[in-house]
Amino acid sequence: MTDALPLAPVAEVTILQGAPSPFAVPAGCFALTVTEVEHYTDSLFRFRITRPATFRFRSGEFVMIGLPNAEKPVFRAYSVASPSWDEELEFFSIKVADGPLTEHLQKIRPGDTVLMRKKATGTLVNDALLPGKRLWMFSTGTGIAPFASLIRDPETYEKFDEVILTHSCRTVAELRYGEELVQSLMEDPLVGELVNGHLRHYTSVTREPFARQGRITDLITSGKLFDDLGLPRMGPEEDRAMICGSMAMLRDTKELCLSHGLEEGANNKPAQFVVERAFVD
Ligand code: A2P
Repeated sequence: MTDALPLAPVAEVTILQGAPSPFAVPAGCFALTVTEVEHYTDSLFRFRITRPATFRFRSGEFVMIGLPNAEKPVFRAYSVASPSWDEELEFFSIKVADGPLTEHLQKIRPGDTVLMRKKATGTLVNDALLPGKRLWMFSTGTGIAPFASLIRDPETYEKFDEVILTHSCRTVAELRYGEELVQSLMEDPLVGELVNGHLRHYTSVTREPFARQGRITDLITSGKLFDDLGLPRMGPEEDRAMICGSMAMLRDTKELCLSHGLEEGANNKPAQFVVERAFVD
């Protein structure tokens, strides 16, 4: 005889779509309602959820997102793509066929429930940078998400005269989220005043023909990025940078920031650039 308790079967619901979850909301989580979903490509989508009145975050931070489809749900880090003043929360996500979370998350529809842990954190925040003339936001793929938040935050423009959002993707279709966002900001009667003449959007594509081709690291190294924008090479006096993309992109772009004389900062030690991984896989 053994006194070990039999293991409870691992319960999992694969598709939620309107069905109430049989699982309790885990401690320390909000259960929030999906309000909008937009698919861009086979591998990218955006969704919005309700925002609890008590939830505070700084533009650029990330939260942990899960689904109420198991007793112990899988959580993944997601940068909040909406600004801190928005009454809803927006996220920009990859879809992975066998991704533990995104396999299910990509099927959400308005009315479904998403879980979010209550604390936001992250280094891509204005507080982690010293004041400067110009802020470079270097992003690849879904790494644009924290910048989608920061370019909508008035504080970014109070701190920097010029904001340059670079977004490099494999295909042209993957640029659409950023292009539509920047376009809508320029046309917005309120935010437009803040961004016009201050925000520039610089895109490139690496695996298809496009007006501008090449990795951001190559465009920095060749100087094409600066020449195209009519700006001097980056330097520690005037320039600040935030980097968000894959591990390889972070490593190489960080190296270039260092070689241009910028120092890495953190929340408790603001400096000239900061780095964060675009988490979801
Ligand atoms: P490439 O097509 O040459 O690999 P991913 O989806 O793999 O994260 O890639 C998103 C974009 O980032 C692609 O355009 C990709 O270019 C580019 N990229 C990948 N690795 C690096 C790197 N080490 N430095 C800069 N850009 C990179």
